[in-house]
Amino acid sequence: MKEALRYYFSMKPRVLSGIQPTGNLHIGNYLGALKNWVRLQHDYECVFCIVDLHAITVYQDPAELRAKIDQTAALFLAAGIDPAISSIVVQSTVPAHAELCWLLTCVTPLGWLERMTQFKDKAAKQESVGDGLLQYPVLMAADILLYQARVVPVGEDQTQHLELTRDIAQRFNSLYGETFVMPETKLPAVGARIMGLDDPTKKMSKSETGAYHAVGLLDPPDLIRRKIMRATTDSLPGVDFDNLGPGVQNLLTIFQAFTGWTDEQVRSHFAGMRYGELKKTVAEAVVAGLEPIQQRYREITSEPGYLKRVLRESAERVAPIANSTVRLVKERMGIYTD
Ligand code: TRP
Repeated sequence: MKEALRYYFSMKPRVLSGIQPTGNLHIGNYLGALKNWVRLQHDYECVFCIVDLHAITVYQDPAELRAKIDQTAALFLAAGIDPAISSIVVQSTVPAHAELCWLLTCVTPLGWLERMTQFKDKAAKQESVGDGLLQYPVLMAADILLYQARVVPVGEDQTQHLELTRDIAQRFNSLYGETFVMPETKLPAVGARIMGLDDPTKKMSKSETGAYHAVGLLDPPDLIRRKIMRATTDSLPGVDFDNLGPGVQNLLTIFQAFTGWTDEQVRSHFAGMRYGELKKTVAEAVVAGLEPIQQRYREITSEPGYLKRVLRESAERVAPIANSTVRLVKERMGIYTD
């Protein structure tokens, strides 16, 4: 009861973000997003969504998807999301997400959706393009507007979707009267941008399938070492801070993000170091940095019923907020609510 009260009466601005339960969460997700979320939860009221309804906009193996939902939730907890102060919500367990999505779809011009670059990219890769792929950003707008979230920490690749969210909110507000809080486009100071180990010109991505592309948060130490030893660098003999290639830069960014070393410490320690030695040092920092997360993950997943309880409690905590937004939207639109 006390927890619930603390939540409802909190005056902190609300933060909402989401991750699809597909692929394997990796150190790029951790250093770029999760770690930042863990920090934010003390200053904001946070809702972190596992967006399973977004995941199925492209075909997912059902058993695998179901397992990934649990795994993602357990990794949120293992990374330090505290379920006493933040909510970890599986999107599909709060039906208001899908409901608001439909209501917003009706005020969203088709042209806005056809212009989305992510839609165009994804559609080009599909033989047959499902309607869900086109509606994807409307569902994301629903996730955000449902909780009247002010701050939405996302990567740069999501800024177009965030702008669309504002456009939809604005259009709704002007058609039906002030209803939605405008999410800020300004992103809070985001974490490190981690690049692929096999190709340091591309952001580390969950959908990239190369065996040496990313270090998974649950990779065992030996695999972590092997992946980092294989990382693409360049043809210089060792670390030259006046001439840093993207691969070496990426390894140093990873090291610094895990250890918290200052620029000066990194410079004086790594200057002139041969790449083999650099990689060994980085690998050990990653192994050490992931060890406590993996330990907590094992604890969380070995406690019967714990995860389920956290997800249920989070859903119960946010549902009243989500339902009251849907009710207000329906009233504004003249939909039956009695
Ligand atoms: N589209 C986001 C991504 O792929 C995931 C997402 C869905 C999201 N709903 C959201 C992010 C709401 C922030 C807020 O990264």
